[in-house]
Amino acid sequence: MANEETVKVERAMRGRRAVVIGSARGIGRATVRMLASRGASVACLDLDQAGAEEAAEQIRESGGEALALSCDLGDVDSVETAVTRAAEWAGGIDLLAVVGAMAHVGEVEKISPNDFRRVLDVNLVGPFTAARAALPYLVAAKGNIVNVASLAGIKGMPYGVAYSASKGGLLMLTKSLSVELWETGVRVNAVAPGGVSTGMPAAGEYPEGGWERVAKRFRTSFGPATAEQVAEAVVFLGSAEAHMINGVVLPVDGGASA
Ligand SMILES: NC(=O)c1ccc[n+]([C@@H]2O[C@H](COP(=O)([O-])OP(=O)(O)OC[C@H]3O[C@@H](n4cnc5c(N)ncnc54)[C@H](O)[C@@H]3O)[C@@H](O)[C@H]2O)c1
Repeated sequence: MANEETVKVERAMRGRRAVVIGSARGIGRATVRMLASRGASVACLDLDQAGAEEAAEQIRESGGEALALSCDLGDVDSVETAVTRAAEWAGGIDLLAVVGAMAHVGEVEKISPNDFRRVLDVNLVGPFTAARAALPYLVAAKGNIVNVASLAGIKGMPYGVAYSASKGGLLMLTKSLSVELWETGVRVNAVAPGGVSTGMPAAGEYPEGGWERVAKRFRTSFGPATAEQVAEAVVFLGSAEAHMINGVVLPVDGGASA
């Protein structure tokens, strides 16, 4: 029985065509590796093209199918071009996972409207544009979208107004899309990690004691998640096993949002 279950997991994504934005590092890198190991072909998109190339090369070396493409979530043309090229390469899209984002911290008085806009462009307009570009392919395949949001999109984050607002917006983008697309059979879900041990860099600076305030608000006794623990949630929501799961936000935060 254990063996049958193992084989089922190993084959869960066989023949699926995945597009993962933000695949060079961290959760995205773990996601593309997991998808490929379960049989999916994976288009690895990232702003960091060298990192995406490395991710794709590792998959090919293990016998999988992967393509690396440059993609800046903060640039509409770049997102549309990369998603379309990925779909043409794979012959369609079954799963669009938008994992990449920019973190941004600082006191509200020190954040300029342009800084705020840039964060919204990357973390909110980017996933919207990617969904729009992938939609015809997803409708044809009855595929699905998984967006990676954050606990900071559920609970307010001190010194994270732009990041938190962008992730809160991403949750409602996810839910609104999921209900609008009911008739098409396309599912749209989100994963909301708490702390993750990826060392994600953040633009801006905390004031003295600021990080401690955030950590106190977000920490649980479970400690930070690994990239793989979050990738498991992304891959599950993107799989056929999650067929009845639509419009949800799945926290992977050790209970911090409870
Ligand atoms: N690390 C955490 O503690 C944490 C907590 C909650 C949510 N998240 C979310 O998880 C996701 C992944 O974060 P991570 O921890 O793996 O971070 P990471 O820094 O390890 O990886 C982020 C990836 O996104 C890419 N990226 C950044 N800007 C981009 C852009 N404009 N266009 C395309 N790609 C871009 C980076 O090159 C990198 O490969 C993000 O959406 C992040 O907001 C992370």
